[in-house]
Amino acid sequence: MSNDNNNKSAAAAVEDDDEEAIIRRKKYEESLEIQSLRRIISAYINYPEAAEEDVKRYERSFRRLPVAHKALLAHLPLKYQKLRRCITKNSNFIFDMLQAFEPPFDMSQDDEMCEHGDNSSCVHHHSDDRDPCCEPVSISGRAPSAQCSEACGGHEEKKENCCEPKSGSFPEGLECQTNTHKGGCDNAIDVSVDSDTDPNKDISCAPPESPDRLDSMPHFHVPLVDVDKVRCVIRNIVRDWAAEGQKERDQCYKPILEELKRHFPNRSEDSPPSCLVPGAGLGRLALEISCLGFKSQGNEFSYYMMICSSFILNQTQAIGEWTIHPWIHSNCNSLSDADQLRPVSIPDILPASAGITEGFSMCGGDFVEVYGDPAQVGAWDAIVTCFFLDTAHNIVEYIEIISKILKDGGVWINLGPLLYHFADMYGQEDEMSVELSLEDVKRITLHYGFELELEKTIETTYTTNPRSMMQNHYFSAFWTMRKKPLVAASIESMDE
Ligand SMILES: C[S@@+](CC[C@H](N)C(=O)[O-])C[C@H]1O[C@@H](n2cnc3c(N)ncnc32)[C@H](O)[C@@H]1O
Repeated sequence: MSNDNNNKSAAAAVEDDDEEAIIRRKKYEESLEIQSLRRIISAYINYPEAAEEDVKRYERSFRRLPVAHKALLAHLPLKYQKLRRCITKNSNFIFDMLQAFEPPFDMSQDDEMCEHGDNSSCVHHHSDDRDPCCEPVSISGRAPSAQCSEACGGHEEKKENCCEPKSGSFPEGLECQTNTHKGGCDNAIDVSVDSDTDPNKDISCAPPESPDRLDSMPHFHVPLVDVDKVRCVIRNIVRDWAAEGQKERDQCYKPILEELKRHFPNRSEDSPPSCLVPGAGLGRLALEISCLGFKSQGNEFSYYMMICSSFILNQTQAIGEWTIHPWIHSNCNSLSDADQLRPVSIPDILPASAGITEGFSMCGGDFVEVYGDPAQVGAWDAIVTCFFLDTAHNIVEYIEIISKILKDGGVWINLGPLLYHFADMYGQEDEMSVELSLEDVKRITLHYGFELELEKTIETTYTTNPRSMMQNHYFSAFWTMRKKPLVAASIESMDE
């Protein structure tokens, strides 16, 4: 064999090795994705059991009261029963949502991980080995001082952006194109057990069972901190999709929409301006932007959020189709039990007939990974960040990417506080978190070629119960910045 041939076969072997390594890496990443998604689905499925545990705890406390005190509070046992009905309503919504969800992976893959791996408590929901009545399977303990127990528990207004990242980015192509996806309806199972219409149903000790179809989604017991994230999503539903959230949307979304209209007064149908909404949450803002005539794309990396937004955007048949009880999980700061238990109808609009314009999409994935791609450079006329900047590990990286992917002369509208998501991650010292003051953030934006066109402070809430005695308010920074022309070239020369 000639030297030339030897070189060629060595090069081919190296290429094969590279390809194999890439395939192995992809498989590994996919299996992490599957594990992460399983955990999120499990958190949703665990919701009723975790809520039932809370009610049982209230009942235990009640039973320990002296007789005279019990007599004064004789209405409480009935309240606990009502709480159970509310939990059933919330669970029915969650189960409908999960039924409609089409996982982007074959979720039966890597089942051995579920059976033999660290998810040792993995169960299929209808496993026979547990008493369905009165003995909810114990869920492993609440993670001590975990970021999200603070976030979604007592201080939900303090750290609400807790819907945790998946282990990696969404697989390419997981895009919920609104109005196009209608899967899951043909063989849907009716799981709506309306306990209000069935007063004889014994709801005293059986949290609602998930419907059979969810059996195809193997799940396991997750820490309560994961279930807290489900509760956090429920509060986000009010912010984005209930009439009760209108006031908060007026505070947060309206100023952004007004700015977009002011900067793009002539929006042509043939060539609509494009607008990206990173950290789109449950998608309402991205939808409203689409309705203004922008080619709007929401970007979101939390499956907790994506599963829910996809359901509401794609599956809603009628305004007020579902009733949930979003505020039942906090006994604190209620003016009355009726306030705490009150129902909320969702959604307040029918997304399919809201006036969405061509090209509306939700793109799953980490903002840095998806939009750090060179193909995104100069792609967007406008970028809107609402309660998003402080989710960064490195806010400078976010600003750099926003600058790069905006067109020259493009507009960046931001609203939100600087409640850095990765600040104070006790026990996770290696978690990177660069926490800058507003002054520093604005200086960095100048470096990346932005000029400030408008700046204000706007008082806002975030997923706040409007009838609670506790109302946390942010003095949110609101700005519109324009990317000065030819910035991209000068950034590149600075990088060199
Ligand atoms: C505080 S919430 C705000 C949601 C929405 N913009 C609103 O105002 O209601 C922040 C959102 O950003 C998402 N998020 C956080 N980091 C992200 C990232 N690196 N890429 C994409 N989304 C991210 C979170 O999952 C969460 O839904």
